[in-house]
Amino acid sequence: MARKRKNWVVPEGTTPTPFDLRILEIQAKGHLVPTRQLIKTPEQIEGIRRAGEINTAILDMLEEKIRVGMTTGEIDRLVADFTERHGAICAPLNYEGFPRHCCTSINEVVCHGIPSDDEELWDGDILNVDVTTILNGYYADASRMFCIGQVEPRVQRLVDCARECLEIGIEAAQPWHYVGEIGKAIERHARQDGFSVVRDLAGHGTGNAFHEDPVIDHYDTRQRGMLLVPGMVFTIEPMINMGTHEVFIDEEDGWTVVTEDELPSAQWEHTFVMTEDGLEILTH
Ligand code: MF3
Ligand code: CO
Ligand code: CO
Repeated sequence: MARKRKNWVVPEGTTPTPFDLRILEIQAKGHLVPTRQLIKTPEQIEGIRRAGEINTAILDMLEEKIRVGMTTGEIDRLVADFTERHGAICAPLNYEGFPRHCCTSINEVVCHGIPSDDEELWDGDILNVDVTTILNGYYADASRMFCIGQVEPRVQRLVDCARECLEIGIEAAQPWHYVGEIGKAIERHARQDGFSVVRDLAGHGTGNAFHEDPVIDHYDTRQRGMLLVPGMVFTIEPMINMGTHEVFIDEEDGWTVVTEDELPSAQWEHTFVMTEDGLEILTH
């Protein structure tokens, strides 16, 4: 049986608005457009924004606490306690069986590192902490890099470049343009420094669930991808590698994503809402 492509549908008995007509026209040209459910209501955006405020406060709190000698298990407890005190829920815990409250990814670990009491932060490490908060059913997802002590210049450059890639991705994401422009701009920037972009993991729609459509690739797929429409909520979260873009998943835990050549990787992530003027950050 042929799979039916999901598309933009005007509810029966209602007249199409100018917004509907604009999307229908683009859809008729054969472009991928969002479904109606991907366009958040102002109420939903407000809910995601409030989840984002707590998510940001968690990462700010970690900036104060993270230091050499701390374990990633301690970071996990800080995230869990802060979230609970603010009446929110840590989305990663039990998500598809994930065993902790956040992801902590050191050096060659690209993402989905599992916090552990046996894992200490050392001088020169780079650490990504990825936090996702649920408040009143709404999700906000963001991550930052933390440089532990004195980091080598080339590694520091990787961290800075990954952050620039996020900023460049934000600028490239324009309403009534396409998702594909994001990855194209990011890959161009990463390559300028001789770095590569991870392809096996992507940004994603979010807000009403942890992971929604669309897929936000961070490399140049040479495809247009989905139309970006005001009201869509999604993440951009480029993972930039010092060496090869290839990654593998640790067989022992089934989660930890590691660079194939075991050279370092850096990532920054925000959750956004698309507006008529471009992206607004909901995890600032
Ligand atoms: N927060 C990650 C993301 O940016 C997803 C983590 S899934 C988990 O999409 F189960 F590992 F927490
Ligand atoms: Co994400
Ligand atoms: Co995340």
